[in-house]
Amino acid sequence: MKTYNEFKQNKDNSFYKEKFNSIQTNLQFMLKKQGIRNFMITSANMSEGKSFASANIAEVFAEKGNKTLLIDVDFHRPSLRKYMQVSENVGTIDYLMGEIELEEACQDTHHPNLKLMPTGIAPPNPSEWVDSAEMRQLIEVAKQTFDYVIIDAPPLLPITDSRILSSLCDGVLFVAFVKKTKRSEIKQAMRYLEIADANVIGGILNGVVVSKNDRKGYRYKY
Ligand SMILES: Nc1ncnc2c1ncn2[C@@H]1O[C@H](COP(=O)(O)OP(=O)(O)OP(=O)(O)O)[C@@H](O)[C@H]1O
Ligand SMILES: [Mg+2]
Repeated sequence: MKTYNEFKQNKDNSFYKEKFNSIQTNLQFMLKKQGIRNFMITSANMSEGKSFASANIAEVFAEKGNKTLLIDVDFHRPSLRKYMQVSENVGTIDYLMGEIELEEACQDTHHPNLKLMPTGIAPPNPSEWVDSAEMRQLIEVAKQTFDYVIIDAPPLLPITDSRILSSLCDGVLFVAFVKKTKRSEIKQAMRYLEIADANVIGGILNGVVVSKNDRKGYRYKY
């Protein structure tokens, strides 16, 4: 993934900005309606745009005046720290292990309303930390401190982490990539979410060709 700064210089930046603004507006209505302020972003497979979407959606929440925390819980393929150019790699795992307080795990970003909790250095058994009382407590404490708590999660099909996380989060936003995510994979991922009793608040279709220039956008559906 390109870095945040490279993305800002990209000629398509305003195009994506508009898409994510619209997604965030729909999402905020949905969250308000349900009275929730926390959700995770997942998809069926790897590389379907979860991290890119979560970073951009979190940024719009922050720009609209909300104190926002983006937590990286993809211990297998963490990418937000690099994308947002946060040098400190202290975050989720360090907090879960009880080594630091919430404030120390929340790193500054380019926007004053937006904090990033990077994964930290993942231990050999990261999945065990997803399914823990500490993870449940992290989400609860974060909600007391921030207006919105957004979690970038791993894909649902290859590993169990997101099935567990989905039952701890107040909502789940599902990303699928046009012509890449198979219908059968979406069905299986949805079955997992259903079994976990997850609250699916919406879906994003990524990679939709929306212009003559073949720009690939995101579209929100719920
Ligand atoms: N709509 C899009 N247009 C152009 N590039 C995109 C789009 N969505 C995602 N990408 C690019 O695809 C790559 C994968 O995206 P991203 O890292 O967000 O996926 P992911 O689902 O989080 O992957 P992982 O499973 O590794 O966590 C990145 O390089 C990202 O910049
Ligand atoms: Mg990712």
